[in-house]
Amino acid sequence: MEPVWRKEITLRINGKIYAIEVSPNELLSDVLRQRLGLTGTKVGCEAGECGACTLIVDGQTILSCLTLAIECEGKDILTIEGMADPMVEELHPIQKAFAEHGAVQCGFCTPAMILTAKCLLEKNPRPTDHEIRGAINGIICRCTGYMQIVEAISAAAEAMRKEG
Ligand code: FES
Ligand code: FES
Repeated sequence: MEPVWRKEITLRINGKIYAIEVSPNELLSDVLRQRLGLTGTKVGCEAGECGACTLIVDGQTILSCLTLAIECEGKDILTIEGMADPMVEELHPIQKAFAEHGAVQCGFCTPAMILTAKCLLEKNPRPTDHEIRGAINGIICRCTGYMQIVEAISAAAEAMRKEG
């Protein structure tokens, strides 16, 4: 049965504040995609198994298909739409590395991979391949065989270290 009450909350997404009325059972992934048009966040299994819906909330990766929008009131949400720098109209170094290393095929897992890589590199700027594999192991990629993704993240780490 539909919940009877709704609540207006504010979400800070990619640095922009959105005021939106939500039901207590509305998922963050649905609010982003269906209510706010931020379709860069992908939804696969809707059961916490494929990792495609991963994004960053308050500096930690979360599965947006298992997160209620209402839980994110006042938190900082980063989706793939917020990765490139709009001021310089340039892709983020991780996005560039994915393009350069052929780490994108159908692209369904790519937003989750890139955001997970961002989170990893902020905590560990010099990850080993083993650590990269550990970070992305909750995200299923049906296309690439993962090799190019690991190479892209490793190359992005190097580029970001050089940028300082
Ligand atoms: S859609 Fe969220 S884990 Fe698969
Ligand atoms: S590129 Fe297709 S699922 Fe990863």
